[in-house]
Amino acid sequence: MNPSSLVSILSFSLLFLSQLSSSERCHPNDKKALLEFKKGLGNPDDLGNWDPKTDCCTDWYGPTIKCDEKTNRINVIAFTKMDMAGYLSPAIGDLTYLTTFSIHNVRNLTGPIPSTIVKLTNLEFFRISQTNISGPVPEVLSRLKSLTYINLSYNKLVGTIPPSLSQLPHLEFLGLDRNKLSGPIPEFFSKLAPNLTYIYLGHNQLTGIVPTSFAGLSIETIDLSRNMLEGDISFLFGKEKNTFQMLLDRNKFEFDMSKLTFGKRLWRLDLNHNKIYGSLPKIMSKNPWQLLNVSYNRLCGKIPKGENMQRFEIYEYFHNKCLCGAPLPPCK
Ligand SMILES: *[C@@H]1O[C@H](CO)[C@@H](O)[C@H](O)[C@H]1NC(C)=O
Ligand SMILES: *[C@@H]1O[C@H](CO)[C@@H](O)[C@H](O)[C@H]1NC(C)=O
Ligand SMILES: *[C@@H]1O[C@H](CO)[C@@H](O)[C@H](O)[C@H]1NC(C)=O
Ligand SMILES: *[C@@H]1O[C@H](CO)[C@@H](O)[C@H](O)[C@H]1NC(C)=O
Ligand SMILES: *[C@@H]1O[C@H](CO)[C@@H](O)[C@H](O)[C@H]1NC(C)=O
Repeated sequence: MNPSSLVSILSFSLLFLSQLSSSERCHPNDKKALLEFKKGLGNPDDLGNWDPKTDCCTDWYGPTIKCDEKTNRINVIAFTKMDMAGYLSPAIGDLTYLTTFSIHNVRNLTGPIPSTIVKLTNLEFFRISQTNISGPVPEVLSRLKSLTYINLSYNKLVGTIPPSLSQLPHLEFLGLDRNKLSGPIPEFFSKLAPNLTYIYLGHNQLTGIVPTSFAGLSIETIDLSRNMLEGDISFLFGKEKNTFQMLLDRNKFEFDMSKLTFGKRLWRLDLNHNKIYGSLPKIMSKNPWQLLNVSYNRLCGKIPKGENMQRFEIYEYFHNKCLCGAPLPPCK
């Protein structure tokens, strides 16, 4: 074979190779980042089809990744229940087209949330729940201005809730419940986070008072249960409110219940194990309670009459100072 034909064969095969790779939809940066991500997870069998030789946009199905039709960039990572053991690779920060990142019920996922997520500026939906990730709630989350949903429930996160999270303009859902978070609840103002309607901070070790700025939010659900919070939270109530669920049990809240009013939609209210005093207001009987629990407080007086109140058992009213009337024993 003469040199010139060798060159032409070589250049032909180079051309062929480059055509092969250009026919691939997967962006090389995405492939590289995903392979690093897989490596961090300990190269689990469930990701066996993430083969460097194939196209991540068309061949890597299974635990979900999605590739945007227009940009050909990976925009979704979402999987549950994977058998793996490892950590979140900082390389996830290179998947800058991600709008959804969701990992749920992956027990052997450990280590912190890498701060490289600061580069995921398109991220709208961020969930890591029921894993063993630890370390702090990353401060840098507050720089991801497209976020509407944050769910970091059921992990081992420690430290305080970054006050800067209150500056996420589109945030609707904040779930940080069932971790080991401590310190105070930061202020959330309705001007900065106008659409924040679901707040889950229960089952942590939070202390201090609930910021009164919460009164300005249009809350649908608030879960502050099982913390060490204190003070008067009567500002969370009111007949103009749209809230339908308030889980405030097992804290140290202390206020007079007698003068509270309730929004029409409120039908789940758990206040057990606090230091609430006064009596149960009569108007309470108007709400069609699905859950009502005022046990273990310092309430007194007669339980208002009405089908909505008497459907419950003693366990929802017992252990108060001098609460009486059905279903508790009659008042003297
Ligand atoms: C996950 O962790 C548990 C307990 O530490 C261990 O028994 C199990 O083998 C781990 N699973 C994998 C896939 O490593
Ligand atoms: C993860 O958490 C579960 C439940 O809290 C625990 O039983 C398990 O040992 C943990 N696994 C690892 C690898 O830390
Ligand atoms: C709040 O939600 C409404 C209704 O979904 C939407 O029109 C509005 O743009 C949102 N505001 C922000 C700041 O995200
Ligand atoms: C977070 O997501 C998981 C998985 O869908 C869910 O089980 C959990 O209830 C969510 N947390 C909140 C506060 O809704
Ligand atoms: C109400 O709270 C008490 C005290 O924690 C508990 O024993 C009871 O089961 C609760 N009732 C309901 C329906 O959750």
